Amino acid sequence: MASFITFEGIEGSGKSTQIQRLGKTLESLGHQVLLTREPGGCAIADQIRGILLHPENAAMVPRAELLLYAAARAQHVEEIVKPALTAGKIVLCDRFTDATLAYQGFGRGLDAALIKQLNRLAAGNHSPDLTLLFDLPVEIGLGRALQREAEQQDVSEGRFERETLEFHQRIRAGYQQLAAADPQRFRIINAAQTVAQIADRVKQVTCDYLHERVKK
Ligand code: TMP
Repeated sequence: MASFITFEGIEGSGKSTQIQRLGKTLESLGHQVLLTREPGGCAIADQIRGILLHPENAAMVPRAELLLYAAARAQHVEEIVKPALTAGKIVLCDRFTDATLAYQGFGRGLDAALIKQLNRLAAGNHSPDLTLLFDLPVEIGLGRALQREAEQQDVSEGRFERETLEFHQRIRAGYQQLAAADPQRFRIINAAQTVAQIADRVKQVTCDYLHERVKK
């Protein structure tokens, strides 16, 4: 049965590692799975991702940033997400509309009602069935993200990692608020645990959800 599952969290929360692991686990259980991410997921949206995350684009104003995320999403939903859901797949998406509310809303201070309107325009009626929020203290997450960047010697995606601690704290608090407002859809994962512990929890909550969905 088609399901749309999104992964959310601050920088360095480990969601990208976990999405790969869950994808393999679900495939081994016989599910058809599509793994994707935002911003990106298809050629046009990947080009927009390059603009959004490049440290040289520090002068980008919040409204331009918001519109670029929406543009990337519109393309990605139409080209990748919608066909996969129509084909009955489980779509695992690394970030989606909640990221825009958390980063451009709580982080940049743009109007939440406006963001919701743009999210609807970009995503159509494709809203997540289940959202896993990888929650951990900002200091730990940023530490991990900066270490990864140093190891990979890759600065082409570091624009958000260079933001202040307060910016990332607003985002963490924003995500927590979004989760509290929609407990039916969100599951909070303690992302300060080991990779293996987190993977067990992710598998458990996802399998519970899929099981419940079949019964409905
Ligand atoms: P990533 O680090 O998970 O690949 O995400 C790229 C960055 O884009 C991350 O810093 C969060 C940011 N982002 C937004 O600000 N708004 C959005 O709508 C999305 C999808 C991501």
